[in-house]
Amino acid sequence: MGRAAGMAKPPLSMKPTGWFQVAWSDEIGVGCVHPMKYFGEELVAWRAESGQLTVMNAYCEHLGAHLGFGGTVVGEVLQCPFHGWQWSQQGRNVCIPYENRPNRGRRIKTYPVIERNESIYIWHDIEGREPFFDAPDVFASFEDGSGPDDYYPQQRLFEHGLELHPQYVLENGVDFAHFKYVHNTPIVPVFTRHDFDDVVSYVDFTITFEGDDGQSIEDVNSGVQAINGGLGIAVTKSWGMVDNRTISAVTPVDEFTSDVRFMVYIGRTPGEDSEKAEAKARTFGQEIIRQFTQDVSIWAHQRYSDPPALAGSEQQGFTAIRKWATQFYPDGKGGSAAALAAAAQS
Ligand code: FES
Ligand SMILES: [Fe+2]
Repeated sequence: MGRAAGMAKPPLSMKPTGWFQVAWSDEIGVGCVHPMKYFGEELVAWRAESGQLTVMNAYCEHLGAHLGFGGTVVGEVLQCPFHGWQWSQQGRNVCIPYENRPNRGRRIKTYPVIERNESIYIWHDIEGREPFFDAPDVFASFEDGSGPDDYYPQQRLFEHGLELHPQYVLENGVDFAHFKYVHNTPIVPVFTRHDFDDVVSYVDFTITFEGDDGQSIEDVNSGVQAINGGLGIAVTKSWGMVDNRTISAVTPVDEFTSDVRFMVYIGRTPGEDSEKAEAKARTFGQEIIRQFTQDVSIWAHQRYSDPPALAGSEQQGFTAIRKWATQFYPDGKGGSAAALAAAAQS
């Protein structure tokens, strides 16, 4: 099936480096074999008897059966449906059932994987480098002693195969002007921190969803802190409003589309365990998800503008985040910012 003419293929690589979500942990129970496609590759995720999760390329090195369709977990290994060859969690062949010894030479490519905040993240790097930063944790990364017990159950949004790039979602974090127009905040938020010095970046801003446009931002006592762990995963923590945490995770599927996952946690009030409170938390979580879907509908139809027509007050934030983003494009396809950075270095 051909793509429609005029499709908004971003001038940014759809094979960036970093941690990316490929599933939720509870989607792949013990013994489950789960076919999936990310970064243009057919992949398979499977969970061994011990609970260990493996993500690997889907094709058997023997004659190429897709392990995600009929492959079975046998103890700690994955057995191919075609001729019964067994593959380890390191992608090694450990058994050819009709031979005395396995094939020690062939190996299926496996991906570094971590399970965190109920998600499965894989490390993707087309140069095959080991992970050089850690995926952010919606609790631990804020170093405030918080944990999932302080929050109601995770609420989720999953949108499959949207025509957008992970960087669109991240740029939202420095885009102060959109809050008033997309999310109907009464006044435009103000950024109090833009820290793009490291692989993991930090953005803080003062924002309110309450009151009218007569208030001044100096009087607002609420805000959001965001941590961007590369292009794939961003976590946020709120202060001064209903206690909430969010995780947004965007993972390229192919050269055109990405999967978007968004997760919300609403804080529990100590001593308040009623069903009514939980129902209220659910409603509030759904409202945050609704606000996120307002962004999604923009991103899914957006055409990446490079160079963009920035207003003076937007220059600093957008320039910083686009320059920071270039380090995650090993093939150098980071748009004009990458070209500028390369020129500056040579
Ligand atoms: S193709 Fe997998 S065992 Fe033959
Ligand atoms: Fe937004």
